[in-house]
Amino acid sequence: MRDDSVPVLRSPRLRLRPIAAGDAADLLALAHDIHVSRYLHEGAPPSAEEQHGRIARGLEQWALRGYGMMTITDAGGFVGRMGVFHPAAAAEPLLVYALCRRGWGQGYATEAVPVILRWLRAAHGFEQLSAHIDPRNVGSLRVAAKLGAVHRGTVARAGVDLDLWVFPT
Ligand SMILES: CC(C)(COP(=O)(O)OP(=O)(O)OC[C@H]1O[C@@H](n2cnc3c(N)ncnc32)[C@H](O)[C@@H]1OP(=O)(O)O)[C@@H](O)C(=O)NCCC(=O)NCCS
Repeated sequence: MRDDSVPVLRSPRLRLRPIAAGDAADLLALAHDIHVSRYLHEGAPPSAEEQHGRIARGLEQWALRGYGMMTITDAGGFVGRMGVFHPAAAAEPLLVYALCRRGWGQGYATEAVPVILRWLRAAHGFEQLSAHIDPRNVGSLRVAAKLGAVHRGTVARAGVDLDLWVFPT
């Protein structure tokens, strides 16, 4: 692990901390909302057992890399997940974000993504971070554009062509 501090990050309305075993029910519900998962291309929604496995692998990544996926809360509690997907087998880190529907359209993604990117620069020296965005995902494309991300081509994932966007930190 490169940085053994476990971050709690804050923005004006949001708190972000590393995912934990106790988030399983919230993450499972998020993964089973078809409106949320439509453009994520992360495969079939997990069973409860698979969700626990995902969290365990996410915690392994935190231990290995010192960064990973984070749980987001607002005044109403759990509102999504966001962070870096970079398991041991993957060469490149990827920015991932998904909010519960109750959190959409309030500027949360635009508020939280830069908080994570700033921390990645300060704690881990990231100068940029890539994201794969479905070209039909208007909201995510708007977030990328607002945060100064640059479109750098197309990548194939799970049989779909996704746009590669590079976010400056
Ligand atoms: C994509 C997502 C993260 C956007 O989060 P959000 O907090 O609602 O986005 P913001 O409120 O910060 O909005 C940023 C901009 O996008 C626009 N926007 C957000 N969702 C939109 C939508 N569905 N259609 C059109 N515009 C949208 C907002 O109006 C805003 O633009 P503006 O400031 O010019 O008005 C959220 O919809 C989500 O979690 N979706 C499901 C998971 C997902 O697709 N994740 C991204 C995978 S790449």
